[in-house]
Amino acid sequence: MISCRVIITKTMLKVVLAVLLTGTITLLFLSYSSEYFLYQSLQEEDDAEFMRRFDESVEPFLNGTNDLSLEVFDWWKALQPIEEQTLDSYQTVVESLLKTFPTISKRPERWRKCAVVGNSPNLKGSHYGRLIDSHDMVMRMNQGQIKSYEEDVGTKTTHRLMYPESAQNLDDNTHLVLTPYKIMDLVWLQKAFTTGYVGTIRNLAPYKIQANKNLVMVINPGFIAYVYHTWMGKREHKYPSTGFLAVILALHTCEEVSVFGFGADSDGNWTHYWEKKKYKNLGTGLHYGKLEYFMIEQLAAREKIYFFKKSSPITKDLPM
Ligand code: C5P
Repeated sequence: MISCRVIITKTMLKVVLAVLLTGTITLLFLSYSSEYFLYQSLQEEDDAEFMRRFDESVEPFLNGTNDLSLEVFDWWKALQPIEEQTLDSYQTVVESLLKTFPTISKRPERWRKCAVVGNSPNLKGSHYGRLIDSHDMVMRMNQGQIKSYEEDVGTKTTHRLMYPESAQNLDDNTHLVLTPYKIMDLVWLQKAFTTGYVGTIRNLAPYKIQANKNLVMVINPGFIAYVYHTWMGKREHKYPSTGFLAVILALHTCEEVSVFGFGADSDGNWTHYWEKKKYKNLGTGLHYGKLEYFMIEQLAAREKIYFFKKSSPITKDLPM
């Protein structure tokens, strides 16, 4: 009797294991094949179809005239739901921001040759510094370092994209470009230039920031939504990284775009060129790194941008 029960239990265990295994394999297969078809279909689009994503009517920068629809606002506020956010409170914050930074409402010039510099370790040993510095506009982001890396990343920065948790002080000639992921980011910007910021993100964001107040720019949350919906095909639970936003921003504001320093390490982590790997399973965070990289590759394949992928010696063919 006892041995019969043992046999039944063992058989049940085997069945459960077999079901679990089959389920896992099926899920893996489905997710792999849906990814495969996604990339395949993107690749098969002709240039006109691919570039239909480009919508010139979307304002990249917040300037006081770009009202958000409730739908876009609801999407944006769900990115980092750490606070009570309403469309009214957003509008109030924007109005007061425009008073502190009147130059925000000025339409920025169009740049000729732009370099977008991401923070990938593939910049190490690249000797791209001189090439990067030859651009009229050099966009860097977050904590991207320069000192001790000049040979590979250059020295010039005309624009630095950042959010409060990644902020750093800037010199007087660099544009601070805020990428707001929540209303609190806008509040932080205003306070960090005036009274000092004390609030929810205080332990991650600086109390004060040094930068030229007249060169402050703010990405329009509607532009972030556009990049997500149009360029990333609404991949759920993810939103565009600062770097991908910068690439599409450059596409909208520059005549010629060169992209440097993008690409995860061999384990799929977004590590940085100035750091030793900190976390083993960092991945690409809340961003769909693989898709973003693929879209950048597609833009390059369709000759909309230059993409400097890996460290390679500079040749005469590079657009100096
Ligand atoms: O890590 P952080 O967001 O500061 O890096 C800036 C941008 O550079 C990222 O948003 C991402 O688009 C890009 N990046 C990358 N590969 C890495 C690190 C960063 O493509 N290894």
